[in-house]
Amino acid sequence: MSTHTTPENLEKIIPQAEDFLPLLGTDYVELYVGNAKQAAYYYQTAWGFEPIAYAGLETGLKDRVSYVLQQDRIRLVLTSPLQPDGAINQHINAHGDGVKVVALWVDDATKSYEETVKRGAKSYFEPRTDSDQNGKVVTSGIHTYGETVHIFVERKNYNGVFLPGYTKWTKPYKTESTGLKYIDHMVGNVGWNEMNKWCEFYAKVMGFAQLVSFDDKDISTEYTALMSKVMSNGNGRIKFPINEPAEGRKKSQIEEYIDFYNGAGVQHMALATDNIIETVSSLKARGVDFLTVPSSYYDTVLDRVGEIDEELEPLKELGILIDRDDEGYLLQIFTKPVLDRPTMFFEIIQRKGAQSFGKGNFKALFEAIEREQEERGTL
Ligand SMILES: [Fe+2]
Repeated sequence: MSTHTTPENLEKIIPQAEDFLPLLGTDYVELYVGNAKQAAYYYQTAWGFEPIAYAGLETGLKDRVSYVLQQDRIRLVLTSPLQPDGAINQHINAHGDGVKVVALWVDDATKSYEETVKRGAKSYFEPRTDSDQNGKVVTSGIHTYGETVHIFVERKNYNGVFLPGYTKWTKPYKTESTGLKYIDHMVGNVGWNEMNKWCEFYAKVMGFAQLVSFDDKDISTEYTALMSKVMSNGNGRIKFPINEPAEGRKKSQIEEYIDFYNGAGVQHMALATDNIIETVSSLKARGVDFLTVPSSYYDTVLDRVGEIDEELEPLKELGILIDRDDEGYLLQIFTKPVLDRPTMFFEIIQRKGAQSFGKGNFKALFEAIEREQEERGTL
């Protein structure tokens, strides 16, 4: 299940991306959390991630513990501090549980660092080599929005379970996959008037190109609004939509996020599946909570999106949304926030040709979020 060894289909599909790095994919996503052991249990049991690696007191660490879980190409690292003070505690204190690292898989972590820093990236750490009996890994890091960072991971000379310093971690408790395949896109929320600044960062510093732009007319309800631009690397494997709040009659969900996260950060990870009905049925049966839209959504949805392969009834029962663009259609659904603060959530997405992001569902979706905000007293 070594899914990070054979790059394939790396050809450039976004011609306007400069793509000097280039990026092979998402290597892992690391969350700083208050209790990594219990978070690991949640992602294993509810989401179907397989335990793969561990680092902590038993491996010689004194100040923190990390659990690594994987499902197909999606790898999560959950890290908690073991001592008071320090950067991890400060991160959790400011933001609650949340994404610290979006690690990118590269062929050359030294060059990735030099090229991005030369173009204006702020250094997180300089290239370093770590090795053990399984080989060596070169990593380097740069800052992005808020306190979030990108770590470049060069693992072509490594065949260990995750990274040097980690030991294989298994549990007798059997993991049942939910059919999640890879990270389709990862969305950042940034503050007022900061969207363009961060889109420029991904264009200039990372060589990305803008795929789409949504203004507050596209993304608004009667009460709230936001703006969004989608940045992609050249081979389309890394897509980062960037959202900022927009003025509305009531408080934008992006502003609610910024208030509770205390700044910019990762809003949602969209995880792809080949069978959204099975995946969502399985997640629901294990207690994952999703946003719901009124059943009237399904009265007219097929007039909007036309014919689809799936029966409408199970989609309606599960609350799965449908949208179509020039290239095909997509099926998507959003969880409620998975953390205590109303910050990060997940999207489950199945693409059937469509390469877009579900613009036709924005209104129904944001009205669903507004109902939740109303209950939280944050609308
Ligand atoms: Fe999304």
